Amino acid sequence: MKIAFGCDHGGFLLKKEVLDYLKKNGHEVIDFGTNDEKSVDYPTYALAVAECVKDKKAELGILICGTGIGISVSANKVPGIRCAAVADTFTAHATREHNNSNILAMGARTLGPGLAVDIVDIFLNTPFSGDERHQRRIDKITEIEKKYCK
Ligand code: RB5
Repeated sequence: MKIAFGCDHGGFLLKKEVLDYLKKNGHEVIDFGTNDEKSVDYPTYALAVAECVKDKKAELGILICGTGIGISVSANKVPGIRCAAVADTFTAHATREHNNSNILAMGARTLGPGLAVDIVDIFLNTPFSGDERHQRRIDKITEIEKKYCK
């Protein structure tokens, strides 16, 4: 699978583990940085990954900041993006199955590398259920975007 990846300086600590996992499992990574712990602004990386996924240049995206919050809030401003900030394996599964989330966000200051890699594994390997009620709710999210994103 082609995966878009981005992180800020707060997420950089988890980057190596996540990229190692992706490469080991045969995924192709489009890496938007950042590449060290020098302070940067998380919306820059959120936008790069979100546009890549929106334009279907990658199937799914992964974003990491300190908490997973700022970078997910930023990515969710891009129409068509459903970015879930996830800190446990149950939610990683549920957000793919129910929300058809297309970007996973995590916090390097809140998650250890073992749990983070488990979350990535579940997120990438869980399909959307396709269930009518979940699709109806996603369609309502799209309606909200159409109302406010001009
Ligand atoms: C950067 O210090 C930090 O604010 C950022 O990584 C993230 O946690 C924001 O939500």
